[in-house]
Amino acid sequence: MNQVEHSSEPDKLSPMRLTAVNRRFAVAPMMELSDRHFRYLARLLTRHSLLYTEMLTCKAVIHGDREYLLGTGDVDHPVVLQLGGADPIEMAEAASIAQSWGYDEVNINVGCPSDRVQSGRFGACLMAEPDTVASIVKAMQNSVSVPVSVKCRLGIDRDDSYDALEQFVNVVRDAGCEHFIVHARKAWLDGLSPKENRTIPPLRYPYVYRLKETLPDLHITINGGIDTWQDVQMHLQHVDGVMSGRKAYYTPSFLGKADQSVFADLADAKPELSDAHALAAVARSYAQYVQGWVDQGIRASALTRHMVALYHDMPGARKWRRHLSENAVNCSDVVQLVEDGLAYVLTTTDAPPNTGFNQPSPSA
Ligand SMILES: Cc1cc2nc3c(=O)[nH]c(=O)nc-3n(C[C@H](O)[C@H](O)[C@H](O)COP(=O)(O)O)c2cc1C
Repeated sequence: MNQVEHSSEPDKLSPMRLTAVNRRFAVAPMMELSDRHFRYLARLLTRHSLLYTEMLTCKAVIHGDREYLLGTGDVDHPVVLQLGGADPIEMAEAASIAQSWGYDEVNINVGCPSDRVQSGRFGACLMAEPDTVASIVKAMQNSVSVPVSVKCRLGIDRDDSYDALEQFVNVVRDAGCEHFIVHARKAWLDGLSPKENRTIPPLRYPYVYRLKETLPDLHITINGGIDTWQDVQMHLQHVDGVMSGRKAYYTPSFLGKADQSVFADLADAKPELSDAHALAAVARSYAQYVQGWVDQGIRASALTRHMVALYHDMPGARKWRRHLSENAVNCSDVVQLVEDGLAYVLTTTDAPPNTGFNQPSPSA
């Protein structure tokens, strides 16, 4: 285990901390969805999007099975580990472990409203305790050299004014945090389930824009209900980055347009991967990856579940989904399973275009 040193000196704000990674478009942290296998699939579709892990509690990182929890492939980068917790010392130790596992950034969850998280006094309820968040940020910054960021809501319960949001951000910024991801709706801690808290409170994008206007030195990423590339571009006129969650997971082909839409100026941006044949190349490559895990004894369905929506809204999508769902459980030949499924979505009369698709390579 890494030794963590805690300095009583406040960490110096380094304006260069954020420059190494391009944060214009990110795939959100999603419990039980954005595991390392989904991230592998996502990386086949987009080389440059910033990928977030599911939230891990700092205690799990410190005491749990690290290979299982933190193991991540080279191709994942740039990748951010999201941590949940409220104790600065434990959060700092977990951040240091995350850094030693190669994560490019460590993010603090200040947005999850679940009862389990509230009972641990972290997640969205920390929006009422900016000083605690500031202490966590300071302790983490002092133990790692990678950036420490915060993902938060607009507010909680009745404490949902713009001024309260700005005050929260100011206190946390003074502790050294330069990157805030704001899910542009508040959370009701009592009475709404986490799922309802992702749909019922209204989206208020202008609060996030105003935050960027008021604090232009911060890197502000907006999140919540952003489902088209046109909207991504529109938000990028106001803020530094956009994060997508459900659209990216439930319609992964959306990610096949990320590099062209947002990172086209970067030399190794992928060509747009959206037609059935380009997606088939992705599916075949992912199948090879899954096969490697199956050969080590992992159930295929635990990994193929991430690609059942690959053809969402395209001809043959339902049959593709059903084929994978029904046949993956005890499958030992995933390559053949996927090949059989592709027969439902590829029409034989279409010639495969030159997609320019290759295996993902670690980004610099
Ligand atoms: C199944 C699921 C699990 C989620 N888990 C997390 C999580 O672990 N940490 C977090 O900060 N947000 C989590 N979220 C919230 C998303 O990161 C995101 O803020 C939210 O879905 C709004 O973005 P979207 O409209 O693009 O989906 C989760 C969302 C979903 C749908």
